[in-house]
Amino acid sequence: MSEKLKVIFVCLGNICRSPMAECIMRELVAEAGLTDKIEIDSAGTAGYHVGAPPHPGTQAILTEHGIEVVGRSRQITAADMQSSNTWIIAMDSSNKRNLERLNDSHPNLHMLLSFADSPLTPADLAVPDPYYTGDFETVYKLVMAGCQGLLNSLQTSEALP
Ligand code: 4NP
Repeated sequence: MSEKLKVIFVCLGNICRSPMAECIMRELVAEAGLTDKIEIDSAGTAGYHVGAPPHPGTQAILTEHGIEVVGRSRQITAADMQSSNTWIIAMDSSNKRNLERLNDSHPNLHMLLSFADSPLTPADLAVPDPYYTGDFETVYKLVMAGCQGLLNSLQTSEALP
């Protein structure tokens, strides 16, 4: 079989939003029977929390929705952005700008909410940061809508092995 498609969700600290997206996407990919075709990861643009588990608020909302909590914080590197077979999914435009500094010509760098079909989606496509807002429920709904849309796009793309 050809190389797996890889998805890396990216936020600032890799403890709130991107680990939530990683865990939700793992669940959706498993439900779709695509675990052997799509690899899921997450990372932060900053290294403030390297090695830390997801934030307690992220853990609580995932557990409430029956989703397994996995992952430890790590910082994204330029090497993560070398393969065009990797989709890099940013949570807000600041994350996206920082990623463009590492690689300004990556063919598959997108904002998560560009895939979302939700009335809650803000105009600027930013997933609000619950590290500051404390609102993990809204973030859960937005991230779920984004991941569902992303999975639909991946399923119809030629990138899937
Ligand atoms: P995240 O949230 O980017 O969604 O993981 C944050 C986590 C930590 C910090 C900021 C945002 N911080 O400044 O430590």
